[in-house]
Amino acid sequence: LPNGKYVVKLHFAETFEGITGPGERVFSFNVQGKEFKDFDVWVKAGGFLKAYIETVPVEVTDGKLKITFTPKVENPQICAIEIIPPSATETSVVAPAPAASTPSASTATTPASSAPTGPIVLQVDASKVTGKVSPMLYGLMTEEINFAYEGGVYAELIRNRSFKADAVVPAVTPETYEVGKYLPVTFKPDTQPRFWTAVGGASMMLDTNTPLNEFLNVSLKLDASSASAASPAGVANEGFWGIPVKPKTTYTVSFFAKAAPGFGGPVTVSLESADGRTTFASKAISGLSSDWRKFETKLTTKSLTASKDNVFKLTTATPGTLWLQNVSLFPPTYKNRKNGNRADIMELLAAMKPKFLRFPGGNYLEGNAFNQRFIWKETLGPVEQRPGHPSCWGYWSTDGMGLLEFAEWCEDLDMEPILGVFAGYCLGRGGVIPAGPALEPYVQEALEEIEYLIGDAKTTKWGARRAKDGHPKPFKMQYVEVGNEDWFDRSGSYDGRFAQFYDGIKAKYPHLKVMSSWGYEQPESGSVKSRVPDLVDEHFYRNMEEMMAQAFRYDTYSRTNPTKIFCGEWATRVGSPTPNMSGALGDGAWMTCMERNSDIVLLSCYAPLFVNVSQLTGNGRSMQWSSDLIGYDALTSYGSPAYHAQKMFSTMHGDEILATDSQNIPTREWQRRGRGGAAGQSQQIREVFFDATRDAKSGVIYLKLVNTSGTSQRVNVQINGAKSITSKGEAVVLAASKLDDTNSITEPDKIVP
Ligand code: AHR
Repeated sequence: LPNGKYVVKLHFAETFEGITGPGERVFSFNVQGKEFKDFDVWVKAGGFLKAYIETVPVEVTDGKLKITFTPKVENPQICAIEIIPPSATETSVVAPAPAASTPSASTATTPASSAPTGPIVLQVDASKVTGKVSPMLYGLMTEEINFAYEGGVYAELIRNRSFKADAVVPAVTPETYEVGKYLPVTFKPDTQPRFWTAVGGASMMLDTNTPLNEFLNVSLKLDASSASAASPAGVANEGFWGIPVKPKTTYTVSFFAKAAPGFGGPVTVSLESADGRTTFASKAISGLSSDWRKFETKLTTKSLTASKDNVFKLTTATPGTLWLQNVSLFPPTYKNRKNGNRADIMELLAAMKPKFLRFPGGNYLEGNAFNQRFIWKETLGPVEQRPGHPSCWGYWSTDGMGLLEFAEWCEDLDMEPILGVFAGYCLGRGGVIPAGPALEPYVQEALEEIEYLIGDAKTTKWGARRAKDGHPKPFKMQYVEVGNEDWFDRSGSYDGRFAQFYDGIKAKYPHLKVMSSWGYEQPESGSVKSRVPDLVDEHFYRNMEEMMAQAFRYDTYSRTNPTKIFCGEWATRVGSPTPNMSGALGDGAWMTCMERNSDIVLLSCYAPLFVNVSQLTGNGRSMQWSSDLIGYDALTSYGSPAYHAQKMFSTMHGDEILATDSQNIPTREWQRRGRGGAAGQSQQIREVFFDATRDAKSGVIYLKLVNTSGTSQRVNVQINGAKSITSKGEAVVLAASKLDDTNSITEPDKIVP
């Protein structure tokens, strides 16, 4: 300030409903050396919402005027400050005139059109509920991608346990394919199975002449004729980028085996370090004969340091020829389920408190051909009777994670299944069957699948089959989706196919909500018109700014449209293998939109959920799609920053959506991605996002606030319309110093709330 005499006017008023009397907000302030100690606005002004102006004459001698505040009880609060030079009228605010040649500070740093005129103000109107938060808003989406099941949440540790990873799958067309008929695979002669190695001088080969059964129509023939006590011979499996060995842990080994006549010796199963120097646990098993027989044993480790550069071995010290099939090794599973899931990953999921699981895909539902889709009937019963199939993401699936396992996964986390039924369309050249009689067997297949999940065990065929498979109690299910991303079907058949499935499902299960896989984010031309879907599934894979730009999308969706929204795949795809802080911010912005609009957005789930981070590039890599919520290797797992953001949203919200408003939200200029990499349109996008919900019973208000601006923002939160409000709240904060800061296997907890 130019040196001289001024009058400073400090305008105070108590405006916060949480302060209800004297002594509840007390602070001191000092104006250019003049001290005002233990100032109490309530007392000075005489109550709530009453103004008090403190007028202080001061003199500036060094170009500076200093006003400081010191809290005593609660934070100081002031509504306005005037600094008035002696010559000015009482109401004007003095600012020094900028020098003619230099721009003023404000024009130099702030985009003119977007410059906020004051601090950010967020207003929550506690007296106005705009809708109910959907009780199933937050769920999970899964499919076999990025080694999500095999080498992921499905706890099996042996890779290629059924020796079918080298299978040659018969080519079919939709016209020639017979629904429900199992088509066996074949093998090239002299095939050495992937992920297995012969050890101790043995040799091995796939053998189609000695199958275990029609589904596992191949076995591993092991020539151990060189075996001796000094040099046991056999096979080793490297697992999914290692076999995790943990201290004081019991592993379950099982396998089918037979031997050529004359073999009398035991075989030994063991867990060993890959360099062969350490045996962590081993067991001898006798009783092999010339007939197939199942063997099962336990391996228990002692005190040791957890490691993953290990192998599983099956060897013999007795010369002979053996055949093996379905060689399996399980660690303890989540809730001790047989054929169950990996505990650490399940615990990460449990912490999100998800309400549903969308399965089995994704593209994995559809597959690259009619015999490569998720054929649910081939995923039931004992695992050695499941033929398995190639996943559309480039590797073999044993289908150990079958239909019942998906449903039990739901049961273990208290989630509802959201079942995607195959709707007659395969990816790309896989083909499509248009509506009509040829599609009917697929509708029946879907009805049977639903019956398997929810049918009565005593009175329905497929309910009885579920009971036989070990689960008499029907599962609770409300939602079924017809197909997946059927906008990829350019033949224009989806409307008809949807109608046929819709009619079939509604006729038998009127309570089920039937969802279209063609959402409003796709061209209107192909959307379902002949029926009114209960929900449409919308998918968004975006970068951070794109998520920010669309964070008000649902605010303008119709409230009277009977069709609601399932956001069945979405992610801010920034960061690899798992999203970084930028991803978490984009997700946060998007989640405020879904939550604020969860009167119409009933369900949402991020995708993909999982990635095995062991081999990110190269042939046979463990990742097919980057930016996945949860990462893991054979030994440990971690949640990305986006995981933590989502957990914050899904575990902390109320059941009522409160009306909100805001002022002075900062914006920045952003250029859309144009077609073919060209620069797109420029626009201003907001940098701060929020929504508020309240728990009707407890009255707790949850305010979600996402600051993408890169700097701290002072935010004035005003909660109006509540009878009373407690003076303290809790802040749960996820923050990083850089947008690309992230979590990883080596730094799993770098960014956590
Ligand atoms: O989530 C990855 C893939 O994205 C899904 O399989 C598919 O539905 C979508 O295109």
